[in-house]
Amino acid sequence: MCGIVAYLGKKAAQPILIEGLKRLEYRGYDSAGVGLIQGGDIKIIKSSGRISVLEEMLDEPNSGDVLGIGHTRWATHGEPNTANAHPHLDYTGKIAVVHNGIIENYNTLKTWLISKDCKFKSDTDTEVIANLIGYLYSNTEGKDSPSDGQNRFEWAVQHALNELVGTYGLAVVCADFPDMLIGAKKGSPLILGLGDNEFVIASDASAIVEHTTQAIYLADNEMVTASSKGFHTKTIDNIEIHKELKQIEFSLDAIELNGFSHYMLKEICEQPKALKMCLGGRLDLRDGRIVLGGIGKYWREITRAKRVVINACGTAWHAGLIGEFLLEQLARINTETEYASEFRYRNPVIEDGTIVIAVSQSGETADTLAAIEQARERGATVLGIVNVVGSSIARSTDAGVYLRVGPEIGVASTKAFTAQVAVLAMLAIELGRRRHLSNESARFYIEELSKIPEKIEKVLAQSEDIKKIAEATCQRENWLFLGRGFNYPVALEGALKLKEISYIHAEGLPAAEMKHGPIALITDGMPAVFIATRCSQYEKIIGNIEEVRARGGKTIVVASEGDEDIKKYADHLITVPQVPEELQPMLTVIPLQILAYHAAVLRGHDVDKPRNLAKSVTVE
Ligand code: AGP
Ligand code: GLU
Repeated sequence: MCGIVAYLGKKAAQPILIEGLKRLEYRGYDSAGVGLIQGGDIKIIKSSGRISVLEEMLDEPNSGDVLGIGHTRWATHGEPNTANAHPHLDYTGKIAVVHNGIIENYNTLKTWLISKDCKFKSDTDTEVIANLIGYLYSNTEGKDSPSDGQNRFEWAVQHALNELVGTYGLAVVCADFPDMLIGAKKGSPLILGLGDNEFVIASDASAIVEHTTQAIYLADNEMVTASSKGFHTKTIDNIEIHKELKQIEFSLDAIELNGFSHYMLKEICEQPKALKMCLGGRLDLRDGRIVLGGIGKYWREITRAKRVVINACGTAWHAGLIGEFLLEQLARINTETEYASEFRYRNPVIEDGTIVIAVSQSGETADTLAAIEQARERGATVLGIVNVVGSSIARSTDAGVYLRVGPEIGVASTKAFTAQVAVLAMLAIELGRRRHLSNESARFYIEELSKIPEKIEKVLAQSEDIKKIAEATCQRENWLFLGRGFNYPVALEGALKLKEISYIHAEGLPAAEMKHGPIALITDGMPAVFIATRCSQYEKIIGNIEEVRARGGKTIVVASEGDEDIKKYADHLITVPQVPEELQPMLTVIPLQILAYHAAVLRGHDVDKPRNLAKSVTVE
């Protein structure tokens, strides 16, 4: 996590850093800070809390301060107080660093640096980077001196990077080089935006697009040095490399609130449009087939595959589980969904004919990235279902399908989930068609899929009614979410949404599992959300609703439009249009997102920045 932004150019750096940090705040918001080069010194202003707290502490920007670095933190090492906030200065006061990632050997390095009399002021792993660079800057420590053309600052950074084990996205400045900015990357994202005689380094494009749309994306073990004379890129082994200039495809409009009170609400409401973008040009209704350009060359291999393994985390894992059911049901292919964090440390069996699919909104989730690296090493073909274009996962897969839903800023994932399910449904239908599904059935599903966006509109129209349900129930501290079949992962997702933004304890379960233990939790008035749409297990779930009601639970039921029979089982009823059960999750999840949103607002929480969380989990 953490957002990094750094600027070198002709303008005052401070406002550019603050604007950039605001755009990156979704990545972490435990503390924030900036460091500015001012007449041969580094001025650091930092504080625990949000960027708004930092802003209050700042003086008017000085037009002469044209080089600076900024950071918004999601703490991994050391509590989120001011001392641990970035930038970190080295013990000589000459080097300042902002860092995203984790330095795994920081203890060893810290002990060594302390033995060399370097002083530490924080509990972070990051401070060892600053001190190591500072130490090497002042003492070459028997290493070769800077080669021709390489200055001592760059040399010290490069040598320090070679000692680090772990992950980093870094921006570094040195008081003696008021015209030089260095960035480096390993395992955490870093982009260099190239403007007119100005450079912006940032963790993602949102902090850059206001200044330029030309950028280079650093790869792992690469560093960039920028100055008013230009820039050069090299590996951390000091080998010069040429990086291709890329056009950033990103519109600022997409990351504005546009009148909504929160990004989460905006993104919930955007789902019809987002799904249209996701499905657009991919559903060939005339020929009854699906066109997924990104994986076009791989169809032969996918069609012959013996097994699919889906890897993901959190909400993306829930989408993956629906994908598993879809691939089994429609394509009759053996599929498993794995928590990437578990898969990466097991000794998974990957035989010939295994396709691994990574599902991720950000494309930066460290566990998912590591899981696919593990799968590739074992010879699997890896496909990605990713939202962020050019992200690490998108680049490290063999091929993939982008979600195309635009930036998702709210920490609670909403539109990315429905799009992930839509992409997995497209994959399952097309794979089914190529394996055994009749053309007629494929056409049927494609037509039904094309109607999902307008059906989501009908669910969104019930937002006010769902708010009333939230008002009546949000004071309860324990909830159950129950579903069967395709709606079982939706129950998991509903519970996760409520937990992460409302801080209400919620459990998601396959409804039939309740009687094997969790039923003991039911007390008088406890909310139990049932996803009980008309599907193959409809009668069974009615039985489960009865079981909860008999024990005093209050039922919130998501049912199919026109289902009169279910009314008598529901203390609160929400309806969704009828669609084939394989496609129902894209509709049944919507009321659960809205319910969690209103519950969180009513409980007075910061919906877009829930406590302890960050949008992209780039640490393990
Ligand atoms: C969802 O609301 C989450 N905040 C979280 O579970 C998220 O889905 C997970 O961290 C995976 O992220 P990714 O899709 O960016 O890989
Ligand atoms: N490890 C650093 C810290 O705790 C950076 C954290 C991160 O990138 O998530 O401050």
